[in-house]
Amino acid sequence: MAFVTRQFVRSMSSSSTATASAKKILVKHVTVIGGGLMGAGIAQVAAATGHTVVLVDQTEDILAKSRKGIEESLRRVAKKKFAENPKGADEFVAKTLSSISTSTDAASVVHSTHLVVEAIVENLQVKNELFKRLDKFAAEHTIFASNTSSLQITSLANSTTRQDRFAGLHFFNPVPLMKLVEVIKTPMTSQKTFESLLDFSRALGKDPVACKDTPGFIVNRLLVPYLMEAVRLCERGDASKEDIDTAMKLGAGYPMGPFELLDYVGLDTTKFILDGWHEMDSKNPLFQPCPSLNKLVAEKKFGKKSGEGFYKYK
Ligand SMILES: NC(=O)c1ccc[n+]([C@@H]2O[C@H](COP(=O)([O-])OP(=O)(O)OC[C@H]3O[C@@H](n4cnc5c(N)ncnc54)[C@H](O)[C@@H]3O)[C@@H](O)[C@H]2O)c1
Repeated sequence: MAFVTRQFVRSMSSSSTATASAKKILVKHVTVIGGGLMGAGIAQVAAATGHTVVLVDQTEDILAKSRKGIEESLRRVAKKKFAENPKGADEFVAKTLSSISTSTDAASVVHSTHLVVEAIVENLQVKNELFKRLDKFAAEHTIFASNTSSLQITSLANSTTRQDRFAGLHFFNPVPLMKLVEVIKTPMTSQKTFESLLDFSRALGKDPVACKDTPGFIVNRLLVPYLMEAVRLCERGDASKEDIDTAMKLGAGYPMGPFELLDYVGLDTTKFILDGWHEMDSKNPLFQPCPSLNKLVAEKKFGKKSGEGFYKYK
């Protein structure tokens, strides 16, 4: 009897596992909204790994620039990947580019896509408007994912009627090089959606990790307070920024010091994240505003991209 029960349980559990995985969505067609730094990278990696991609942005000019950037990036990848085979490199670039089409009208291209990855401006209202509109045009099975770094995935999901098919898919910059993807599950995200996104991340050649919908997810929740502590250490006059950078590179083995990293990420981006967290939890000492960061941002010194931040790049 016990044997029969065990067999029954085993066969039930294996058939339910098979059913669960059979229900997962195999993502082959991806719509990436936003052809900036992150969206272009996501589109590139998806196309290079055999997916069909539609890249959407506001104007043809922006899309032409994204496409040019993707082509240049692919040439760099191909040069390494096909070091001994220039013809293979050209074919790889041409084949990958041919898998990416572009559009300025998101609503008209989402009717038959498996996955929409949103990578537009970091603004809750703008993202909500986009998702609300696309929800009406996308197929029933289509999964929506946001690449947001600092907004709550749950708030974005609530602008749609597909909260179970909504999750965070947080890539890292530069997308073609960084192996990590954080897959964010809200209390409403279905297991099927979550697993489909883990599979998709792996299909891109990335290593996904899972996290709940909490401020900063894993990496930024640890990284941003660390960066701010470095600025506070310097503000107190305990050490210079140069010595703090040297110390963390040589003493902790980090590839960049905190001030170098802040300049690379962008001081405006970091301030935006910190301010958002401070608004959510104003008593948390790790989320307190940083005077020297605020001063540099007010002076439009955003880091590497503007030519000056904590360091000068001109
Ligand atoms: N930059 C990073 O290091 C990084 C890392 C991880 C996640 N993110 C997140 O990724 C998202 C995009 O960041 P980014 O650095 O690529 O920004 P970006 O400014 O380089 O690109 C954003 C693009 O979105 C387009 N856009 C804006 N509104 C749009 C709309 N309604 N429809 C279509 N396109 C629209 C813009 O024209 C622009 O090309 C943000 O949510 C950001 O928080 C950024």
